[in-house]
Order: sequence, then C-alpha cells, then structure tokens
Amino acid sequence: MTDSTSLANTVVIFGASGDLTQRKLIPALYNLCRKQRLPANLNVVGVSRSALSHEEFRAKLRAGAVEFTNSTFDQAAWDAFCEHVFYVSGDATKLEDVDKLNAFLCEREGGESNRLYYLSTAPSLYVPIVTNLGALKLCTESGGWRRVVVEKPFGYDLPSARALNEAMRAVFAEHQIYRIDHYLGKETAQNILFLRFANTIFEPIWNRNYVEYVQITVAEKVDIGHRGEYYDGSGVLRDMFQNHLLQLLALIAMEPPTSFEADAVRNETAKVLKAVRPVALADTVRAQYEGYRETTGVAPDSQTPTYAALRLYVDNWRWQGVPFYLRSGKALTRKTSEVIVRFRRPPHLMFNLPQGQHFEPNTLSICIQPDEGIHLKFEAKEPDSLQSARTVDMSFSYKQTFGADAIPEAYERLLLDALNGDASLFVRSDGIEGSWQIIDPIIRGWQTNAAPPVVSYARGSWGPEAADQLLAREDHHWRQYCGGS
Ligand code: BG6
Repeated sequence: MTDSTSLANTVVIFGASGDLTQRKLIPALYNLCRKQRLPANLNVVGVSRSALSHEEFRAKLRAGAVEFTNSTFDQAAWDAFCEHVFYVSGDATKLEDVDKLNAFLCEREGGESNRLYYLSTAPSLYVPIVTNLGALKLCTESGGWRRVVVEKPFGYDLPSARALNEAMRAVFAEHQIYRIDHYLGKETAQNILFLRFANTIFEPIWNRNYVEYVQITVAEKVDIGHRGEYYDGSGVLRDMFQNHLLQLLALIAMEPPTSFEADAVRNETAKVLKAVRPVALADTVRAQYEGYRETTGVAPDSQTPTYAALRLYVDNWRWQGVPFYLRSGKALTRKTSEVIVRFRRPPHLMFNLPQGQHFEPNTLSICIQPDEGIHLKFEAKEPDSLQSARTVDMSFSYKQTFGADAIPEAYERLLLDALNGDASLFVRSDGIEGSWQIIDPIIRGWQTNAAPPVVSYARGSWGPEAADQLLAREDHHWRQYCGGS
C-alpha cells in the first residue's frame, strides 16, 4: 500500500477568484505555510473562469493577504508560499475543463498524490463540479486520499440539504466529505469542549438542577453590505442559525463524547440536535433593521429577517425545562459572540442585604469573539461592610494568558484538520439535516397567518423590543458581558 504521508499534496480551490479565497482561504494557507505547519510538498491550485496567469493570480491574492493577515504579512514568507501557488482557468461544470485541470494537477504532482478539493463556489455549482470529479474518477483513493470540503450554505432547506448529501455521497464516501462551519474552527468554540470535559467542576452542575437558562448571542455590527440578493433569499435563520448558532448550542448542550474522535463527537451533536423540541411560533421574534429594504438586491416589500431571537427547549433528562435563548442580527450595537450560562439562585439566602441591593445568580460568560475569554460572575462580600454584596468576576482572557496573536483564524485550524484527515470539527450529514429539521418548520411557520410580525429595529441597537419581551415573560433578560468592536 502507498504511504500517503510521503505523497505530493494538492489543495484545489474551486471558486478561486471569489471573496472567500482572498479573505480567508489564502491568508489561512499562507499563515500555515509561514508557521511550517503544511506538508512540505503541498501545492495550492486555484480554479475559476477568469483568464489569469499564475503570476496575475498570485498578485491578486497578495492584496488580500496583506489586508487580511493583519500583522503577520511578510514579503519573504509570502514569496516562499507563492512558489506553491498556481492557477488554472476553466469552467469546472464542464467535463473537458475538469479533465484539463486534472492534466495540470498530474503534471505538477508527478505521480500518486493526496488531494483536497475545496468547493468555494456558488452553491448551485457544487453538484455539477462533484459530478464531474466523479465522472473522471478523481474521487478514488487508490493512490492517495481524496477529500472534498463544502462551504456553507449546505442546502436551502431540509429537502435540498438531503438532495445535496445524496449527490455528494453518490461520488464521495462520507469519510471523504468535510462540511465546513467556520464557527467550529474558532478556538473559543472548541474550548467549550475543554471547559466542559477537561475539568471536573462544571460538568456536575451543567444541567437543569443548576442552570436556569442559557443564552447564545451572535451579534454583528455590519449590515448586509453588497450581499442584498443572496441575503434577501436567505435571511438570518439560514445564514446564521442553521449553522453557527445551532453548532454552538450543540457544543454547550451535548452529552460527553467517549473520545475526541470525529464520530464520537458528531454522534453527540447529532443526538442533541434531534432532542430539540419543535419551536413554537410564539417563541420566535423576527425583525429587520431600518433601511434594509432600500438595499440593492432587496425586494421593496421584503419580509426577510435580518434579526431573529428564539426560545428553544432540549427534550432530554439533562435540559428538561431549561430555556435556550438564541439571537443573532446584523447592524447591531457591536460585533460580539457570547454564550451565557445562568445558574439558579441559592435555595435559601441568609443575608440581609441593605435596602435596594439584591444578589445576582452566578453567571458563566464564554466570549467567543472578539474579546476571547471566560468570565465567572459570583457574589462577594464588600470589604468593611456588614452584609453588602457585590458581583465580582473571575476571568480568563486568551490575550493576557497566551499573547495577543495566539488565536489563529478559524480557517487555519479547519484547513489543517482537513489535510490531516480529522473531521471532528466538520459537520456530518445527520448534523446538517438535524439543524434543518429545527429551522425549516420555523421558516414555514413564518409564511403563515400565525407568524409573529416582522418588526423593525434601529441600526446600532441591540435589536427589537419584542426580543426583550420574549424573555421578560419568564422574568429573564438578555445579558452581555463580553466586549466587542
Ligand atoms: C457567515 C455569514 O457564515 O458568517 C455572514 O454568511 C456572517 O453573514 C459571518 O457575517 C460571520 O462570521 P464571523 O466569523 O465574522 O462571526
């Protein structure tokens, strides 16, 4: 058998002239190359329809790398990386162009090789490209591995996600398919698993007996920018909830996997998503920021939400009766992603607080971005007082502990894992279908008369009042402890 570790490795990026390649994929590969984390014999080959020479392609990528690698851009390191970057112009939905691409790859590889195909094109091209790879047998693993990374959106609803899964599996086996959700590549999201399962102090209280509610906020300051046409056909549930928010929920709510193996982790995420109770329309809020309908590409009478808030319940022993509040929106106060675990009040309070003071229940705040860290809020006695209490913070900051540049971009982690064949942080087909099973009925419900109205919210606010009322029914409030920008 061939030893696949000594073979040539190729990352083939379909959709190479797109935004994602420039902003995320190439900066991530460049950083991995600079840190000497890539296999020595790795080439990156971009494919798209634009007619570009290798040199023109590299020059175009350089501009993106300078802008998106922050402080790490270094000309000598970039030049060294560029020696491994190539470009093939062609339409990958045409069999003859994929054949031509393969001829170029074979020539560069000079023999058996490992290949990572990255689909970073419009979703409508996924199936035609994969079908062509299949027709030319470019998916067979007889002389090295073959893997395919699929970008989001993975489907538009449950039936289309199922159809895409089927079309992909007609060509690639499940172990070859890497469905990416870049939130799983964020260090802080991965750290949820370490916090829960590498410590003994949290897990015993991580259940309905001690937790009053959980909140997941993914707030963005930016609006939809130039993505009017895409966004108006999608909306915030498809763009953010079906993937990023539900994956965060799964990390928080899942049962302990028996190992950190891809399937052990993904069995648990699929299980917990299945346990989510169908969401009542009365537990949903949908809203648009003011001015959204004036954006190019957006229908003047659009009902597409740019903000949503949901109350979810997980029907299992651990979480019975505990509300999970999820919210996400564009054009909000600041960019911040935070998970809050709010614990129950002490069963009996023996202290007599001064008039007007009250005890805050303990709160664990997990800051996913941009002020990465974890904060535990608890009550302490104010010094030199009789019985005054104050909420204080036990905090961990990534920047302070590990240094300002310690956190890599999510795409670095995920590309490296895909190259190493570790699919733990990629979503399996049942995970994708499980999350559509939660989101689809809400979107369908929003098209009926029973739907809550689409309300509007001011740009730069925390969203509509209706989202506060959703929590006020149970005397709960949205909380933000993390910083943001
Ligand atoms: C993408 C969405 O998946 O995630 C975008 O399509 C969103 O609309 C982005 O802006 C947010 O990612 P991050 O990493 O900036 O929080």
